[in-house]
Amino acid sequence: MFDRSIKIAPSILSADFANFGAEIQAIEAQGCDWVHVDVMDGHFVPNLTFGPPLVKAIRRHVKTFMDVHLMIAPVDPYIEAFAEAGADMISAHVEAGPHIHRTLQAIRAQGVKAGVVLNPATSLDTIEHLLDEIDMVLLMTVNPGFGGQNFIRSGIEKTRRLRALIGDRPVHIQIDGGVTPETAPLVAAAGADVLVAGSAVFKGGSVDKPEVYGENMRAIRSAAESAREAA
Ligand code: DX5
Ligand code: ZN
Repeated sequence: MFDRSIKIAPSILSADFANFGAEIQAIEAQGCDWVHVDVMDGHFVPNLTFGPPLVKAIRRHVKTFMDVHLMIAPVDPYIEAFAEAGADMISAHVEAGPHIHRTLQAIRAQGVKAGVVLNPATSLDTIEHLLDEIDMVLLMTVNPGFGGQNFIRSGIEKTRRLRALIGDRPVHIQIDGGVTPETAPLVAAAGADVLVAGSAVFKGGSVDKPEVYGENMRAIRSAAESAREAA
């Protein structure tokens, strides 16, 4: 059964980079649903993070679902390496190259779920013909590259239109960027089910104070679930 319930996916971009194993164990023990891994290449986005060896190293700590968001161009030469590193889902940007359909097919050919990502300025028209090839659409509600940016509000109406476009297809809607207990209900009511949050999950906590991660995630989840029920 396809699960459209609200899922919280902490972005480890806001975790302690020197302590990923313990950070992942802490967020999972505190009830996250997915672990969101932001891969940046210093070319597609103006920041650099990590490659397949690090993703593989953290994989053994992930008991839930490893969601790998590729902010790299080109994508295709690296799909096999990220699949072998143990990604459960690989998401690629529609802006990262001319052949996103081929990229998504290549991801699925590795036995990995495929997500397609749209930057805030990119129209939903670009993915209309991909909806039967994918497991998730990720709508960026910040310009990708950094954590801690402000939520771009045009993503709310975009989520509503995407939800209508998807209809009954088993396709998740993920929102990434500036998700907080204040913004999560806006996109949850519009139809999003996977909420990525970096700063809003990790702020105030640490591996020594993991209960703060739990409180932060519960605040986002309960705000989103209430808005969903009211919608
Ligand atoms: C931004 C990344 C996000 C980022 C979100 O390029 O894709 O996943 O970590 O961080 P917050 O939740 O702090 O906006
Ligand atoms: Zn991300």
